[in-house]
Amino acid sequence: MNILVLGGGGREHALAWAILQNPKCDRLIVAPGNAGIEQIAECASFDICDGGAVVEFAEAEAIDFVVIGPEAPLAAGVADRLAEAGIPAFGPSAAAARLEASKRFTKEICDAAGAPTAAWARFDDAEPARAYIRQQGAPIVVKADGLAAGKGVIVAMTEDEALAAIDEMFSGTFGAAGAEVVIEEFMEGEEASFFVLCDGETVLPVGTAQDHKRVGEGDTGPNTGGMGAYSPAPVMTPEVTEAALERIVKPTMAEMARRGTPYRGVLYVGLMIKDGAPRLVEYNVRFGDPECQALMMRLGAQALDLMLAAAEGRLAERKVNWAEDFAMTVVLASRGYPGGYTRGSVIGGLEDLPETSWEMMFHAGTTEVDGKITATGGRVLNATARGRTLQEARDRAYAMAEAVDWPEGFYRSDIGWRAL
Ligand code: AMP
Ligand code: GLY
Repeated sequence: MNILVLGGGGREHALAWAILQNPKCDRLIVAPGNAGIEQIAECASFDICDGGAVVEFAEAEAIDFVVIGPEAPLAAGVADRLAEAGIPAFGPSAAAARLEASKRFTKEICDAAGAPTAAWARFDDAEPARAYIRQQGAPIVVKADGLAAGKGVIVAMTEDEALAAIDEMFSGTFGAAGAEVVIEEFMEGEEASFFVLCDGETVLPVGTAQDHKRVGEGDTGPNTGGMGAYSPAPVMTPEVTEAALERIVKPTMAEMARRGTPYRGVLYVGLMIKDGAPRLVEYNVRFGDPECQALMMRLGAQALDLMLAAAEGRLAERKVNWAEDFAMTVVLASRGYPGGYTRGSVIGGLEDLPETSWEMMFHAGTTEVDGKITATGGRVLNATARGRTLQEARDRAYAMAEAVDWPEGFYRSDIGWRAL
């Protein structure tokens, strides 16, 4: 098969790496890719959010299957354009991608499906929103309705913080994403991510993970896209997993199908777990980044078969071959991230790293300049490893991170602390 992966982060490097292990893959192209992906696959450059451009490229290159990595092309309807052109693709339609693109939509679906989640209210004016916050008190959570690149959620510990968040949202900081605001009850508990594939009907769990969102050691400091992750998540016991599937995921999928917008692809189920009871924090319509890197390390070649089955409505025939293993990914980021940082610093020591089915350095924000790998983003590299224990996975991942010669970069030294 000729396979096209859309995206250019650590998630897509891990997807490409797993796809290449599968003998069904004859040719792999990634758009736009990055310097690490370039070492294992062909890279191409076109606007991956332009459905017409994606279809044109896929037809010209005789692509048999497209894997859509990030949420932006999904929300822009790239899966819909590919379906119209008869090209099989992994990823939901724009209508189904609203589970990530609109917080309000997700809340309405949860209410219709009876899925446990935080109590909520929506506002498109600042004054009633302020009154609601004064009435509810803090802590309370303020969210821009639309996609805001991970920055549209303010967990306010005081009423003043929440009121300031309302002012910011309605001042236009978040553009159209903030024109509508969802205000939610603050949920206590432990967070975990649950990943399931869905083919419109059948739901198949493909792993659990926990990530570290704060930039600093001990989970302190500003929020980031994720500084590391590990899989599985110990808090996702068989009982919690079953409860999440039966009370949250399956009713949501049934409601999506009932509305004529069945969900096909991977659903990232963000959960808050307290006293063994999971409640939904959010859905994402893609694999998590960096959670995907740990998941792909564990799934390996079967990831492609599972994604094909989800795209073709054959998930009922499939099961995941689980190994008794653990995986961890440690993010190497540019100094200053998630604030300002410089681009273009040279990263050394990458040539000598091991590349096995147990350990891989996945690239996120890298590009090659004059034969040298240089940093182009905030999150730059993902040292990812598998082991028979989480400690073994951790030791391998950190050995790779330490071997990198990059004075302009940093990483957290305590990824996985909760589980170790
Ligand atoms: P979201 O973009 O909805 O995932 O929110 C980002 C982060 O904010 C989540 O991972 C949680 O840590 C936190 N969060 C979101 N909603 C709530 C809530 N209702 N209660 C407590 N924490 C929340
Ligand atoms: N790691 C969090 C996310 O992918 O949204």
